[in-house]
Amino acid sequence: MVLTETSPQPPMGQQFLKEVNPSPNQSLLPLTATINQQDHLEIGGCDVTTLLQQFGSPLYIMDEHSIRTACRQYREGFANNYSGDSLVIYASKALNCLAICALVAQEGLGVDVASGGELYTTLQAGVDPETIYFHGNNKSRGELQEAIDCGCTIVADNWLELETLAELAPHSTPQVMLRITPGIECHTHEYIRTGHLDSKFGFDPNQVETVLQFFQNTPALDFVGFHAHIGSQIFEQQPHQDLAGVLVDWLKRARELGLAARELNVGGGLGIRYTEQDDPPSISEWTATVAQAVETACQKAEIPLPKLICEPGRSLVGTTGITAYTIGSRKQVPETRTYIAVDGGMSDNARPITYEAVYRCFVANQMSQTASETVTVAGKHCESGDVLIQQATLPATQPGDTLVVMSTGGYGYSMASNYNRLLRPAMVLVHDGKADVMVNRESYQNLIQNDHLPERLQRDR
Ligand SMILES: Cc1ncc(COP(=O)(O)O)c(C=O)c1O
Repeated sequence: MVLTETSPQPPMGQQFLKEVNPSPNQSLLPLTATINQQDHLEIGGCDVTTLLQQFGSPLYIMDEHSIRTACRQYREGFANNYSGDSLVIYASKALNCLAICALVAQEGLGVDVASGGELYTTLQAGVDPETIYFHGNNKSRGELQEAIDCGCTIVADNWLELETLAELAPHSTPQVMLRITPGIECHTHEYIRTGHLDSKFGFDPNQVETVLQFFQNTPALDFVGFHAHIGSQIFEQQPHQDLAGVLVDWLKRARELGLAARELNVGGGLGIRYTEQDDPPSISEWTATVAQAVETACQKAEIPLPKLICEPGRSLVGTTGITAYTIGSRKQVPETRTYIAVDGGMSDNARPITYEAVYRCFVANQMSQTASETVTVAGKHCESGDVLIQQATLPATQPGDTLVVMSTGGYGYSMASNYNRLLRPAMVLVHDGKADVMVNRESYQNLIQNDHLPERLQRDR
């Protein structure tokens, strides 16, 4: 994975369109991206610069066709390569809002949630609780109760959760999966690597036997199977093949102990293209590899095929979305660098400052202009580290130009904040020349709606 800046960005927007690739996770731009007669970028038949005028700046823009294509490729990948039952669930931490949850459910996907808030949103979107899986390494008693009440599957992460569930559920028999830290290393950023043994998530493998005995003695909980998520933005396929073998061995052990374990969840993690150096496998390749690895391991272990589940987030929505900004001020530091600033930054995209994540950008209202300078794209926050892109090769820009940062559909809006009391941008879903608001732009009023001014601090105005 490329997480540190290794090479400058190649020239202009047009070249990103030359890559015709049917797998959304391998394409830097949404699949519907084109250039119109005004030399502007269009997504989903909508001119991005016009969208900024209509809906304000900055703006998250999601392409419906690309999201649906990614959902279908995942579903078909499993259906074509796995003889048993399967389910793809969307890891909604990548982007959780009513419209996206409803859209993926319409495509036949379930939804993975990691908090009461994500669960609430997903239920409000009308998603069938039978297809919802509840994750998290420290679910509160209240969250566990909400999960039991709605009837979703709970992915237990630790002993406290198991004990609390047994206490809360003497009559309801909730479905419970077990999250295990499988000890599988993969090459990705430390913060998004979760399957190695020193991780805050899941049970240690040497506890599996004891946990299975707990399920044997706790009929109030319906143990459905095992889950593991080894990390994110993974380009290698071997770690998931290894994972399949490990999970199947545990499944076999559970069955030997008489437990009705019947599901196996290999997590998410398939990488996407943030830069032209990123070369992830396609969704079809990944699903085929995983499905075949599980089938082979089950044949070897001589156990029936479990329901195969995966839970991708980034590879379903990452490259299907862009963020459009308006360019503002410019500062030249002689013999050092030129900064151009945009009207957002670390509050709408926390990944560069959190993970040193690298992005690519271009000027969406002059797609054919030749690149003429290398600049640093800074945000507008009172923080020196608030830099979206260290080295961007762009044509000469003016204040008011539209700068598009690609591959921001996943973990952009969902990690957004109000730092410096910036308003979180609106998000639109584009399709066939139409843009629908999925999330409204925040207002100043929204910023203070939960504030209280104690009486003794109030001054006559
Ligand atoms: C448990 C779990 N499942 C799935 C995902 C989705 O991962 P990705 O977006 O890399 O596919 C994550 C991401 O953190 C996760 O923690």
